[in-house]
Amino acid sequence: GWKMENILDEEIKVIKGMVGPEDLVICALSGGVDSTVAATLVHRAIGDRLHCVFVDNGLLRYKERERVIETFERDLHLPVTCVDASERFLSELKGVVDPEMKRKIIGKEFISIFDTFAHNLEEKLEKKPAYLVQGTLYPDVIESCPPPGSGRTHSHTIKSHHNVGGLPKDMKLKLIEPLKLLFKDEVRQLGRILNVPEAFLKRHPFPGPGLAVRVLGDVTQGNALDILRQVDEIFIQSIKDAGLYDTIWQAFAVFLPVRSVGVQGDQRTHSHVVALRAVTSQDGMTADWYYFEHKFLDDVARKICNSVRGVNRVVQDITSKPPSTIEWE
Ligand code: XMP
Repeated sequence: GWKMENILDEEIKVIKGMVGPEDLVICALSGGVDSTVAATLVHRAIGDRLHCVFVDNGLLRYKERERVIETFERDLHLPVTCVDASERFLSELKGVVDPEMKRKIIGKEFISIFDTFAHNLEEKLEKKPAYLVQGTLYPDVIESCPPPGSGRTHSHTIKSHHNVGGLPKDMKLKLIEPLKLLFKDEVRQLGRILNVPEAFLKRHPFPGPGLAVRVLGDVTQGNALDILRQVDEIFIQSIKDAGLYDTIWQAFAVFLPVRSVGVQGDQRTHSHVVALRAVTSQDGMTADWYYFEHKFLDDVARKICNSVRGVNRVVQDITSKPPSTIEWE
């Protein structure tokens, strides 16, 4: 509504006043709603002084890179450099099974790649980037201290944010955080005004470490990532076809590092087990597992075993949070 239009105009004015005509501004796009809306807003204000980067860490979902790049370029006209760093990430992750270690490695690699992007830009344009855009939301910042006069209270449950912190330290970048007084639903409203496609704004949350925390154990084992991408895509597409996507908070598949015996045709198989996870939630802090109809589950399981080589068994996760977490790692 008009309130969001005003907030947008106000933000654009502030950013225009802040960023000088010669200043470089950089931004890392994750493919998520927050960084996309933040970058689109800043681009509205300062045009091609904004330079975005999207890192393919090799842990993205089926066709994810192509899909988000298409949205950035075709729908939003955002200038974005795509860095394919899959090999680097995967070689660092080889043999690593501890979930927190995976996160640490991924975080460290990301910073190093972002650093290189910034330095390359500096060399090419012969000046240092001055600002960094981040899609920080209000719930990410209130935990410590609500901005005075923001009118916000602590009524929302706060999740410790995995993505905050850890960006190039030696560059002395000033932060631009145009969403830092907004809640998620307000960011979506802003996104709508900025022509971010509706389907993009409604995407389920996706963790920064990506499929690394959905392949249990070593992410580089066999063709685990490839199998997981296919299974996940079938599951998500079936959920969309059934019209259930928007009522579910998050849905995804998990690759289990075990094999079980099955029979396909007249062949005995010894193949992988995959798990399906779908939950409803308000904020990710607590969650309930989602009740699919039996017919839906039956169709999905058949489709997966019929079309994904190397999978002969599908199970569903029927635990809520607590005692489980949403992700398996
Ligand atoms: P859990 O598994 O803790 O997840 O119940 C709660 C929400 O947080 C997401 N999640 C992450 N997001 N980096 C992220 O950016 C992470 O390391 C991470 N771990 C979990 C999860 O997908 C869910 O939405």
